[in-house]
Amino acid sequence: MDSHRFAKRVEQLAPSSIRKMMGIARRLAQEGKTVYELNMGQPDIACISGFQEALTAKVREGHICYSPFIGETYLRETFARYLNHHFDQRKVKHLVVEKENVLVTVGASHALTSTFLALFDPGDEILCVEPFFSPYSGFMAVAGGVLKAIPTFAEQGFVLPDDDQIEKSITPKTRGILFNSPSNPSGKILSEDELTRLARLALKHNLYIIGDEVYREMILGDQESTSLLQVQLEAGLMEKFKNSFIIIDSASKSFSLCGARIGFVVGRAPIIDNIAKVVAHTVASVSDVVQYGVARAYEQILSDAEYVRNLRHTYRERLDVAMIAIKEYLPHVVAPRPDGAFYLMIQFPDLEDVNEYAMFLLERFNLGGETVAVTPAASFYLTPGRGRNEVRLALVYEPEKIRRSIFIMGEAYKAFKVYRGLEKKASLR
Ligand SMILES: Cc1ncc(COP(=O)(O)O)c(C=O)c1O
Repeated sequence: MDSHRFAKRVEQLAPSSIRKMMGIARRLAQEGKTVYELNMGQPDIACISGFQEALTAKVREGHICYSPFIGETYLRETFARYLNHHFDQRKVKHLVVEKENVLVTVGASHALTSTFLALFDPGDEILCVEPFFSPYSGFMAVAGGVLKAIPTFAEQGFVLPDDDQIEKSITPKTRGILFNSPSNPSGKILSEDELTRLARLALKHNLYIIGDEVYREMILGDQESTSLLQVQLEAGLMEKFKNSFIIIDSASKSFSLCGARIGFVVGRAPIIDNIAKVVAHTVASVSDVVQYGVARAYEQILSDAEYVRNLRHTYRERLDVAMIAIKEYLPHVVAPRPDGAFYLMIQFPDLEDVNEYAMFLLERFNLGGETVAVTPAASFYLTPGRGRNEVRLALVYEPEKIRRSIFIMGEAYKAFKVYRGLEKKASLR
């Protein structure tokens, strides 16, 4: 059969393991199996109330309009106020953000792709702290950029390697550094010292530095998140830094608004104006009614500190339950307690390829008709072989369901070992 070829960039756009597991989980659910979907970072809790009220009121007005391609002024202003308030409240010295520094996008995903398209040419190399949110690979492939890993390790608390180690990966093609803190999947929060080191390296080698801060509010322990807006450098360097950094943010996680698809890029006005050109020439503009709803969500947390406190409490409680359940039902695994975001990485030291276990758990196993979808972690790494014995869990259910899910994982693990013949046979001796 004659067929036209597709663009080369599409060939690199394989479905992520997160989406692959979601497809299977949804099919099994349709067939009547109960699947706890711990594979997706889709919060189960109801969205923030202000969003619904403002969205409904705006829709009732009956005029649904194109929006300026840079975003609605009221949302850009409110988001800038929220950011400044976030740091002021904690008495943290920071760069003050104004609406000119804010671009509205279709979620953080579109913020990232638009930024990559605006900053990088095909063949440019971008260093990325590993493990990382796996869709970064696809977002970068669209722009033709090449991701290179800055590896970090659970056994070392995911601390950044020394500067000279990082510098070994910098070539004449390197144009940027990308990180996510608090991190999906590791939960690592980069310290101020680590952020400053990355900023200095970026400036030394003339690189952009892009910080994905979508989990800013999701703190699971005592360490607060840090931001590129807090980096303090000598006056001469500070000016260059202001022209080099970009922050990515989103309403998806903090407000349980994944489906609203509102994200942000924050940076100096000329950078924002250039990234806005990509928005103008791709989606033209972001939904005006949804921007209205999201602006109200930010107004709500500006006046109600309880919202974020409750959010943190909810996820901490889930994490506590998960850690206890892991000790009880999966005692042989390695699962470091994360500091932020809402994921858990679990290493199975005795499995070579965790995919087989994950598929066994999802497709072949059930306890009373129930099973669990997890994400095999290899796609969170660029370094060959890494993540092959790890899975990621998202803490997106109430505590009892998380405990039940981990119990099912433990039972499935015992059954899997028997199924694969991994269990040692009893000796006659
Ligand atoms: C680190 C990170 N960045 C970006 C995104 C994309 O967020 P959005 O839903 O706003 O596109 C996610 C979603 O899970 C994420 O975990």
